[in-house]
Amino acid sequence: MTMLIRVDPLKPNEEILRKAAEMIKEGGVVAFPTETVYGLGADCFNTTAVLKIFEIKKRPADNPLIVHIHDKNQLALLVDQSYERASAIIDVFWPGPVTIIFRKKPAVPKEVTGGLETVAVRMPSHPVAFKFLQLCGTPIAAPSANLSGKPSPTRAEHVIDDLYGTVDAIIDGGETPFGIESTIIDFSREKPVLLRPGPATVEEIQRVVSDLQIPEFLLKKTDEPVRPLSPGMSYRHYAPEKPVILVANEERLDEVLSKYPDAPVVCPQEMLSRFYGRKTIVLGTLKEPFTIAQQLFSVLRQIDSLTADVAIVIGFEPRGILFSVMNRLRRAATEIVE
Ligand code: TXA
Ligand code: MG
Repeated sequence: MTMLIRVDPLKPNEEILRKAAEMIKEGGVVAFPTETVYGLGADCFNTTAVLKIFEIKKRPADNPLIVHIHDKNQLALLVDQSYERASAIIDVFWPGPVTIIFRKKPAVPKEVTGGLETVAVRMPSHPVAFKFLQLCGTPIAAPSANLSGKPSPTRAEHVIDDLYGTVDAIIDGGETPFGIESTIIDFSREKPVLLRPGPATVEEIQRVVSDLQIPEFLLKKTDEPVRPLSPGMSYRHYAPEKPVILVANEERLDEVLSKYPDAPVVCPQEMLSRFYGRKTIVLGTLKEPFTIAQQLFSVLRQIDSLTADVAIVIGFEPRGILFSVMNRLRRAATEIVE
């Protein structure tokens, strides 16, 4: 049985959230909104509860989970290294959409870290997540609250579609503000490495971490030959069930359009007038690139409800937040036109 709980995203009712926190203390699994996407949480020290997450999502056991905290003091429960080098990131971006990888304490179950000796930690800023974590009192292991391989959920309805009936509760706090998953930076190595671009952009991170390493697989056009450092980055991901053709080179757009005369097009508002006579889905506006990130996963889910066999998605110049958006689109696409 799944309990649906609706709260005001800005001023969540504490008594209602307390019920969900009780479920966590009893070994339950609860979906909750964060400022990035919805998460599916369990007590990170309760291995039985953690294993339920993998079973519910059908997630490969070697794909580690992010541990969520509400207070920096909780780092001492999880992390076995100095926070020194990460302190600038913590000061500037926490609470917020940045995850940090540290060497882990032995007490952190290997089930959480997919067998790795490191642990991913993040302190969300969403008022619902923050209050919920406070009431839970324990660090919460939580991946995105979607079935493995599907686009991450940015609305409670997405969580309901994927997980209703298999989780103990779903906290509905409306649409998630950023709409893509957190930026991940690995501080467990000699030099800090970007593992996943996210809402905190590369440019913003570099202002604080001047020696940030950006691995080849994030810069290369295809990520095939290079083994990603983050286990989750190697799976096909965020993918609608329908084939998606990503047009990364605008010069080849006409060629793609004539090859697929009936395919609907996903594009930003500014480009709509190029697709008269075709079904279109608007994906934000280039004037406010954050709207593109915010609606991305919703639109990827929408593609499956279309009658056409294939959809065309127009790519973006990979700068700022749109670098993160293109990272998700490349992995959702079945074909990339460069
Ligand atoms: O915004 C977010 O990060 C959301 C919300 C719910 O916090 N969570 C999220 O979790 O996106 P998930 O599990 O969908 O993605 C976590 C990513 C995976 O690619 C995983 O492989 C990577 O983080 N990861 C986790 N722990 C890691 C570790 N110790 N070393 C390297 N990568 C790790
Ligand atoms: Mg995920």
